Amino acid sequence: MTPTRRSFLAGGAAIVGLPPFARAAASGPSVIAPRAARHQLAPDGYPATEIWGYDGALPGPELRYRQGDTLRRRLVNGLDQPTTIHWHGIRVPNAMDGVPDLTQDAVEPGAEFEYEFALPDAGSYWYHAHWASPEQVGRGLHGPLIVDEAEGAPDIDADVTLVLDDWLLTDQAEIDPDFALPMQMSHGGRIGNFVTTNARYDFSREVQKYQRLRLRLINSANARIFPVALDGLDGWIVAYDGMPLDQPEKVSSELVIGPAQRIDLLVDVVAEDGAIAGLVRLTQDGRAVQASFPVSGQASLVRRKAPSPLPPNPSHTIGALASARSVPMRIEGGAMGRVSRASFEGREMGFGDMIDRGQYWTMAGQAGLHDAPLVAADMGETVRIPIANDTVFAHAMHLHGMHFREVLQDGAMGPMRDTLLVGARERREIAFVADNPGDWLFHCHMLGHAASGMMQWVRVG
Ligand code: C2O
Ligand code: CU
Repeated sequence: MTPTRRSFLAGGAAIVGLPPFARAAASGPSVIAPRAARHQLAPDGYPATEIWGYDGALPGPELRYRQGDTLRRRLVNGLDQPTTIHWHGIRVPNAMDGVPDLTQDAVEPGAEFEYEFALPDAGSYWYHAHWASPEQVGRGLHGPLIVDEAEGAPDIDADVTLVLDDWLLTDQAEIDPDFALPMQMSHGGRIGNFVTTNARYDFSREVQKYQRLRLRLINSANARIFPVALDGLDGWIVAYDGMPLDQPEKVSSELVIGPAQRIDLLVDVVAEDGAIAGLVRLTQDGRAVQASFPVSGQASLVRRKAPSPLPPNPSHTIGALASARSVPMRIEGGAMGRVSRASFEGREMGFGDMIDRGQYWTMAGQAGLHDAPLVAADMGETVRIPIANDTVFAHAMHLHGMHFREVLQDGAMGPMRDTLLVGARERREIAFVADNPGDWLFHCHMLGHAASGMMQWVRVG
């Protein structure tokens, strides 16, 4: 802890110390109000942490709807800076996508914005701030958005949302206020020193032997990739990023969840009565408990049969792959990297000049948003984007507005996703049907990477 950082924090604290903006809505949609709050994040004995949360809660309130419902929420900005809400993974009309300057004006402090859209797909989604995202999401502005199947929901005993997150805390349990450290942005991003599940470092939930749980894993961290495994739980992957798999996939090894990704699991508790089952996180030096499920009692004598697939969501066929337009995209830059060409704010420049402007990464030779989209697609067109990651870091590539499939090495199609984790130096390819009109971001969900160059957009129609 340096004095400089402490005084910087003091300034920050004054900024977030404004009284929450609260006003009872006479009528209309329920309010969702981002504001500063205090939360006991660190263990007892440490001070409570000043966070920013939707309605002051951490994670934000779980918004729960039924497939086909209409979500209506009035954002009332209780922060002292602009904000917006992005509904990650939902196929929204473009004007509801929550991207400042691209789909709406940022909502000023004290101002309001009404989000209203139908929910076509069942599954596990999330919502988060999309203005100054490294800081706003990093301080806690995110929450789960769960859409229940209109019919054909799986037979389970409990439905458990697990929001995996990490925090960079000082020794006084304050959130480290420097969200733009070059050292983090040019490397793997802001990795916290304090890991939580549903904002608890000791998340625990009692279960019974042979119960079947639906676990909805959501990675809301700024940059951390979570490798996790099941302990005392026997499970199947049934959906990625909200979208059901054609067949449940037996979990046989570790699961990797990149920033913004979700995995839905059906798991049977197979640990004995009195034991502790759980989700474990694999770390460099072993295993850490991410969520624990103490087993108390036995629900039945025998286990259920293996699960059937979740009911499919509508219209996700990606056709015409062979004749699809291909728009190759190279990712360059970062620490130990280089860029072959770079343009930023409409100017061509060298890597050195970019770095001076706090830009460390390029997508297709560009840092930050440009006037021209990466691709302008016709309505209904299939677009392929072969991604060449020429950096030594992983990137969580997220497309707004439409899910894509990965085109696998052998030409087969991977599962529907909205965020693809592309490893260091990897070559991967995605394909999507441009069927949602508007301007959509395509960016890295390591939020510090996005803020330092990794932002592109596609235009549909
Ligand atoms: Cu969840 Cu543009 O992001
Ligand atoms: Cu990245």
